[in-house]
Amino acid sequence: MTDTSNALITSTSGKETQLNSKQAVFSVGAAVAAAAALMLIRRTTQRLAKPSSSATAAVTGASSGIGAAFARKLAALGYDLVLVARRGDRLEALAAELAAAYGIRAEALVADLTDDDDVERVAGAIAAIPNLDLLVNNAGMGAEGRFYQADIGPQVDMIRLHVLASVRLARAALPGMVERGRGGIINVASVAGFMALPEDVNYCATKGYLITFSKALQLELTGAGVRVQALCPGFTHTEFHDDLREFDKARTPKILWMPAEAVVEASLRGLARGEVVCIPWRAGRSSVSQASATG
Ligand SMILES: NC(=O)c1ccc[n+]([C@@H]2O[C@H](COP(=O)([O-])OP(=O)(O)OC[C@H]3O[C@@H](n4cnc5c(N)ncnc54)[C@H](OP(=O)(O)O)[C@@H]3O)[C@@H](O)[C@H]2O)c1
Repeated sequence: MTDTSNALITSTSGKETQLNSKQAVFSVGAAVAAAAALMLIRRTTQRLAKPSSSATAAVTGASSGIGAAFARKLAALGYDLVLVARRGDRLEALAAELAAAYGIRAEALVADLTDDDDVERVAGAIAAIPNLDLLVNNAGMGAEGRFYQADIGPQVDMIRLHVLASVRLARAALPGMVERGRGGIINVASVAGFMALPEDVNYCATKGYLITFSKALQLELTGAGVRVQALCPGFTHTEFHDDLREFDKARTPKILWMPAEAVVEASLRGLARGEVVCIPWRAGRSSVSQASATG
């Protein structure tokens, strides 16, 4: 387990134990409250702690960028992995590398998550993982052009990939997690999900969906031991912008870019402390508040 998770568990337990012991001396009511708090501590600790053996994380879009960074970090934490994307060669290579480096089990699941049959196949595989502890709905794509002129194919694919696949896989993962009383789902959205940008109409809309979906889902799962996060990165160094002809990376100030590894660290730290909307990007936080202020 990492120092980060340890520190979080220790600080949560320490604070609440101190609180409980103070309260317990005063009244029977306080004793009952203390017992309830202790149960909460146990439950919180159980949720945050990496189990001793064979917890599994499923990561979509693991063949590059943020998804690959999640896979590396989770393997280092000791998770077994199910890695999903279209480029099987990349998934196989990463799975083999991580299995050898960390002694975990890693499986490559080749799937196009814009395809209904593939999504159902992955959903079935995810539902069947007996100890699924984390699902990272990360696979994503960009598309260019004004909506009324753009090819409709990529626009619809984006809705399928960002919205339908994420919803389907979350639905497949959750019953087991709720039954076990532990687990987490990270939906990789974007700061664009708080915005309404021309020529990014569907990107903003689909990422906005993931933010609202995550927030409402977390409310629904209150007390179930399952955490949900909408991860909202800003500009991140990955392959994402490579195919976007109209996007010139060199024209975006360097200071606005983050490494994928830093995004993943912020996400997992945030998940451990129950952060439902995680914006790992300082500049992103201010642009989000500006966007909210201007409606
Ligand atoms: N980079 C940024 O600046 C940034 C900012 C905010 C949010 N994000 C979000 O972060 C997530 C990860 O993107 P990234 O930046 O890491 O970009 P990336 O390096 O291009 O990775 C995208 C991943 O999604 C997978 N993918 C794409 N289409 C797929 C499909 N139809 N079926 C299955 N997998 C598919 C790709 O794998 P295959 O091609 O092998 O299928 C790849 O592994 C996305 O949701 C993106 O919207 C990125």
